[in-house]
Amino acid sequence: MGLLVPILLALLASLFGGLYILGVFRKQRPGEPPLDRGSIPWFGHVLEFRRDTAKFLERMKQKHGDIFTVQLGGNYFTFLMDPSSFGAVVKEARTKLDFNAYVRKQLIKVFGYTQIENESKFLHDSNNRHLKGDGLVLLTESMMKNLQNLMLHSVGKGGDQKAWIEDGLFMYSYNIVFRAGYLSLFGNVSSREAGSTEKSFEMDRIQSDELFKEFRKYDQYFPKLNYGLLSPRESIEVKKLLRLFWKTLSIPVLNNKDNPSSWVHELQQTREELGMKEFMQDRYMFVILWASQGNTGPATFWLLLYLMKNPEAMAAVRGEVDRVVKESGQEVGLGGPKVNLTYDMLQKTPILDSALEETLRLTVAPYLVRAVMENMNFKMADGRAYQIRQGDRLTLFPYTVVHIDSEIHPDPLSFKYDRFLNPDGSKKTDFYKNGKKLRYYTMPWGAGVSKCPGRFFAMNEMKQFVFFMVFYFDLEFKNPNEEIPDVDVKRWGIGAMQPTRDIGFRYRLRF
Ligand code: HEM
Repeated sequence: MGLLVPILLALLASLFGGLYILGVFRKQRPGEPPLDRGSIPWFGHVLEFRRDTAKFLERMKQKHGDIFTVQLGGNYFTFLMDPSSFGAVVKEARTKLDFNAYVRKQLIKVFGYTQIENESKFLHDSNNRHLKGDGLVLLTESMMKNLQNLMLHSVGKGGDQKAWIEDGLFMYSYNIVFRAGYLSLFGNVSSREAGSTEKSFEMDRIQSDELFKEFRKYDQYFPKLNYGLLSPRESIEVKKLLRLFWKTLSIPVLNNKDNPSSWVHELQQTREELGMKEFMQDRYMFVILWASQGNTGPATFWLLLYLMKNPEAMAAVRGEVDRVVKESGQEVGLGGPKVNLTYDMLQKTPILDSALEETLRLTVAPYLVRAVMENMNFKMADGRAYQIRQGDRLTLFPYTVVHIDSEIHPDPLSFKYDRFLNPDGSKKTDFYKNGKKLRYYTMPWGAGVSKCPGRFFAMNEMKQFVFFMVFYFDLEFKNPNEEIPDVDVKRWGIGAMQPTRDIGFRYRLRF
């Protein structure tokens, strides 16, 4: 009897502790946003959320309005669905809303990478030095050369030059953009090691293709990995893939490459100087590969697809591309030099820019998550204020409330290549909600401290690929009545969406 009471008390305490962790006792306090815990303890709404995030959030918005808190897998996420109030999240001090505190955990879970102190500061310094200005010009030039090697190496080299070549539009676009981007950032096979420049070009083609195939496997596991839902067999497979990437991108291998980008080189050097172990530096290289290559290829696919589906848009972009080449004074023929697509030429394509922005509006859907570092009073644009709890996560999902809001972008699900053009041909930036001009009228790159630092390079990469495709090739669908495929709803929140199926197409030289 003497022992029974303490044992019962201990059991009771653990039961309450367990229920507390499962979130059973959490209640909406006065001043807090509506709380919707879902019916399953701890998991909350995670199943419905994962099944189709966009649909789930729309349902919650109908039920609770512009701001609400939901439980997802043991964490509480407060979703803000009013774009006019986004500025208050984006500009809030890091002491209250911190992007990095959230990212740190994701990096360990998804990439096995542990950050060093002040990591985000070093990243920002390197980004500013190498992903803008002169660094961007060099990267863009490198991308152009790698695209020429991958896309145009057989042009003018015998065979039936006017024959149609068939492929899947998604796999073709993703493959080429991934490989050219990877080679531009991480460097080429050394011509000394290969024996000649020609041989190193060939090795680049072969090795980058092998890497893409493995990357694609990881990419397909990614949504499940991100939510911790891999089966034991899949976890083993993902670990195997990670080991392969770490080896392929290991520091000794990279040190042996020609033309590595100064961005990647500096990111690695900084870590070495700060004493990070070499195996962790290798892991970081894969983080960078993922961040830089996971979205660009899929987004480029959609751009080319929309152009092919919209003859008027294709004619406008092709007319612009032909004019830019002509004005550059280059004579392009079968046996002659390839188009030297310079950085300056890419600044003269407002129609392509608008078509790209329209594509990103329709197909890029990231979440922006901030860890709530202290209890805070959050003020919305219309004056309402809410208490947000320390330990929760404040989240934006601009796709549903900005990208496809019909008040901001009329007929929001249609592709309009000139949506971001003013009648005088300049870039359109005036978009309104409730009569007020919006600062955030599309957000494919995120916003604030976490805004994608690679966006200028990404835009150039996508434009360069499409520029070459429409300049060099006639393009047609295998099925003339091809429809735009659905997006794979399991990927909401990750970034660029992917299609549920590939699209057969063919291409052949235009001249
Ligand atoms: C279409 C292509 C791309 C899209 C849509 C995209 C989108 C994004 C978004 C939304 C974020 C912020 C994520 C967040 O807030 O959680 C981000 C972060 C990042 N992106 Fe991109 N990105 C693209 C291409 C690139 C490229 C080409 C590079 C590198 C050259 C790059 C490098 C990065 C890095 C390093 C971060 C992390 C920034 C940080 O931790 O502060 N991205 N990207």
